[in-house]
Amino acid sequence: MTDSANTRPLSEAQITEAGNPAKPQGECGALMLERMNRSHEEVTNWALDLLSFSPDQRVLDVGCGGGATMGRISQRMGKGSGTVVGVDYSEVSCAQSRELNAAGIASGRMEVRQASVEALPFADASFDVVTTVESFYFWPDPVANLAEVARVLKPGGRFLLVADVYQKDGLAQEVLDNIRRRSLTVLTPSQHEDLLLEAGFSLARAHLKEGTDWIAVEGLR
Ligand SMILES: C[S@@+](CC[C@H](N)C(=O)[O-])C[C@H]1O[C@@H](n2cnc3c(N)ncnc32)[C@H](O)[C@@H]1O
Repeated sequence: MTDSANTRPLSEAQITEAGNPAKPQGECGALMLERMNRSHEEVTNWALDLLSFSPDQRVLDVGCGGGATMGRISQRMGKGSGTVVGVDYSEVSCAQSRELNAAGIASGRMEVRQASVEALPFADASFDVVTTVESFYFWPDPVANLAEVARVLKPGGRFLLVADVYQKDGLAQEVLDNIRRRSLTVLTPSQHEDLLLEAGFSLARAHLKEGTDWIAVEGLR
């Protein structure tokens, strides 16, 4: 992809700006999601290691983006009667997730639905596990949206919120600028825990990865 004068390839930053990480759109959105499928691998695997998956579970990934997290979860579950469902309100994200997980979808083990976390198209207590990776900070109404996640979880089900940034001293200026410019919800570990409890989870625990700005917040329904 090149700039408007059709001369230079677009930089990663230009692709991200045009692609809109809050709701991926167009060709740049698709390119950005492909990159995120790779760049979010390490933080996602670190966080998924905090949960245990089994073959017959029903798992939901909210804000599934390019769909790589769905594949990572499916691999951890192993073969069985379980399903991995991805939800995203961006048409481009849903298309990318469907393309990447075409084999799983064809076999009936995966599904992608276009919807917002504000109104998940599932009955109460439908899932054993819900995950969300690098998406929560865009959600419009954190407590209400987390309560919607809690609604679709079975009693005793687990929620895992993953982000590569949380509120703390010493964040890089570039990161602070990004948080302000995009109005991201970036909280301290204890604010995350309080929010989950307020939204109806019975337990909440934030995990941090030493030497990084990563956070994974585990919630028990
Ligand atoms: C930065 S991307 C991350 C995608 C993917 N989870 C990953 O780790 O690469 C954020 C994703 O969250 C989705 N998203 C943001 N707000 C959402 C909402 N209210 N409901 C559903 N999806 C949402 C966006 O459309 C986008 O696909």
